[in-house]
Amino acid sequence: MLVIQTISELNAVLQTLRDAAHTIGLVPTMGALHDGHLSLVSASQKENHITVVSIFVNPTQFNNKEDLKKYPRTPESDLKKLDQSGVDVVFIPLEKEIYPEPDTRTFDFGNLDKVMEGKHRPGHFNGVAQVVSKFFYIVQPDKAYFGEKDFQQLAIIKQLVKQLNLSVQIVPCSIVRESDGLAMSSRNVLLTPAQRKSAVLISQTLFESQKKIKRLDPDTLKDWVKDTINLSEDLSVEYYEIVDDVNLMPVDSWDGAQNKIGCIAVNVGKIRLIDNIRYN
Ligand code: PAJ
Repeated sequence: MLVIQTISELNAVLQTLRDAAHTIGLVPTMGALHDGHLSLVSASQKENHITVVSIFVNPTQFNNKEDLKKYPRTPESDLKKLDQSGVDVVFIPLEKEIYPEPDTRTFDFGNLDKVMEGKHRPGHFNGVAQVVSKFFYIVQPDKAYFGEKDFQQLAIIKQLVKQLNLSVQIVPCSIVRESDGLAMSSRNVLLTPAQRKSAVLISQTLFESQKKIKRLDPDTLKDWVKDTINLSEDLSVEYYEIVDDVNLMPVDSWDGAQNKIGCIAVNVGKIRLIDNIRYN
């Protein structure tokens, strides 16, 4: 496995591979890797000759300095996991390599970046679009892999690719969960044992809500989900929205052809977790 820190070295390696007609799959991450990330890696390995994983805790997508500071960083164990998974190239740049100059670009994704995470984390998706577009320019992958755990991010990346006329194909990957149902997240390690126990109520409630769509309309179901989770002392729902899975517009009835998805953000003490569930 090649571990590369600079764009010039990465260019040299990838150019040789491209010349040999190797296809390149990219898995962008912020490290603190878990089996959710590794599922993206394995999807990429199945579909490409070469898999490049990037590890970069992107400062521009953190709207909260404290969150950036406490974000888990475990480069040694990350590299070990990627090596064991048979990854070809890890790109782990320093901040000045990615941002030699401040990135002043602003993106507008219409409704997609105004709702849910966009509303509660102002500037977050602009930072994601900045860094992901840079990784697309640098790596020029044939395909790039993103988890449905961050459903809104995935919708925005698809839009980004269209807006910038990029030729990379975006491949969505299903949510990987712990055995009790909690969606895997780098942030889970920040939970206390008691908070970790309480956090299972998030996915449990979402799964339970799927069984109620015959009896409850979307608004009533939304209230039921929020009330049920808020019953736990450790949990406080920031938002729960049921939206169309393409344009992320709110859904007020179960009728209609569009696919519906429920997206949630919950504060567990100072840790913020997100999850989602499909209703079709
Ligand atoms: P990060 O949170 O490290 O996630 C990297 C990728 O792993 C994302 O596409 C995310 O959706 C996916 N992922 C995380 N947990 C998952 C799970 N439980 N199941 C399936 N996939 C999961 O998302 C980011 O980093 C950053 O915003 C990034 C795109 C790298 C830009 O900085």
